[in-house]
Amino acid sequence: MADTSQKVALVTGAARGIGLATAKRFLADGWRVALLDIDGDNLANTMKVLAQPETTLAIVADVADEKADFAALEAVKQRFGRLDALVNNAGTATFKTLLETTPAEWNRIMAVNLTGPFLMTLAAAPLLREQGGAIVNITSISGIRASTLRVAYGTSKAALKHLTKQQAVELGGMGIRVNAVAPGPVDTAMAKQVHSPEIRKDYHDAIPLNRYGLEEELAEAIYFLCSERASYITGQVLAVDGGFDAAGIGLPTLRRDGKNG
Ligand SMILES: NC(=O)c1ccc[n+]([C@@H]2O[C@H](COP(=O)([O-])OP(=O)(O)OC[C@H]3O[C@@H](n4cnc5c(N)ncnc54)[C@H](O)[C@@H]3O)[C@@H](O)[C@H]2O)c1
Repeated sequence: MADTSQKVALVTGAARGIGLATAKRFLADGWRVALLDIDGDNLANTMKVLAQPETTLAIVADVADEKADFAALEAVKQRFGRLDALVNNAGTATFKTLLETTPAEWNRIMAVNLTGPFLMTLAAAPLLREQGGAIVNITSISGIRASTLRVAYGTSKAALKHLTKQQAVELGGMGIRVNAVAPGPVDTAMAKQVHSPEIRKDYHDAIPLNRYGLEEELAEAIYFLCSERASYITGQVLAVDGGFDAAGIGLPTLRRDGKNG
C-alpha cells in the first residue's frame, strides 16, 4: 500500500523523452507520479515497463483541452489526494519558415506549448496550494535565442518563459514556486525527428560541451527545482544546454580547445 504522505508529481508528456526521464527521477526518490500524455498507446507501454502500479497513475489527455485538464486533476485528487509538483513538459514543434507556417500550425503549437501550461496551472493550483508546491515549465533554448524555422515554436516557448514569471509573481503568496527549465538540444524522439545529421554536427560545433544533453540531465534539473532544496527559488529560467546560450557569438573557430590550439 502506498504511503499517503508520499509526495505527488504530475508530469505532462510523460510517455517518453524528457517527461518520462523526469517521472522516473521522482519515482526514484519515493514520490508518486501521475504520467499524462496524449499518446495512449505509448503511455500504456510505458506504464507496463515502469511496472509500479502502486505509485503511478496514467492519464490520457491533450493538455490543450481545458475539460481534459480539469478531469486529469480530479483523477490525481481521487487517486493520490494531494499534489506537490506539476511539470508542464508536453510540447510540440513544426520546424518551418515563417512564410510556410500555416495559421493552423501556429494555433496548435500555441495551444499545446503555451495555453496547455496555463490551463494545467488553473486546474492544478487548488490542489498544489493545499500544502504548497512547485511548477516547472519546460521552455527551450529556442525561447531564449531566435533561430530559423522556429517562428511558432520559439515564440510559444518565449511566451512560456514570461508566463513562468507571471505565475511565480501571482502564485508565490499561495506557497507555489514556479520556474522554467530551458533545454538545449537533447537526444529524444522529438530531436531525432527534426534534427538531421547536418543539424547535429552544427549543434555540436556551437555547444561548448560539444554534445547533446541527456534526458536524465534535464530530469535532474527539473527535479531539483521541484524539491525542497530549491525552496527559495522562484521565477527563474534555468538553461540546461551545455553552454549553448552562454556561447552567444562564440564561434567554434575561435575556441581555444584541444582542436583549435
Ligand atoms: N528534445 C529537445 O532537444 C528539446 C529541446 C528544447 C526543448 N524541448 C522541450 O522539452 C519538452 C519535451 O521534449 P521531448 O524531446 O522529450 O519530446 P518528445 O516528443 O520525445 O515527447 C513529448 C511527449 O509529449 C506528448 N505530447 C505532445 N503533445 C501533447 C499534448 N497536446 N498533450 C499531452 N501530451 C502531449 C507526446 O505524445 C510525447 O510523449 C517539450 O516541451 C519540448 O519542446 C526539447
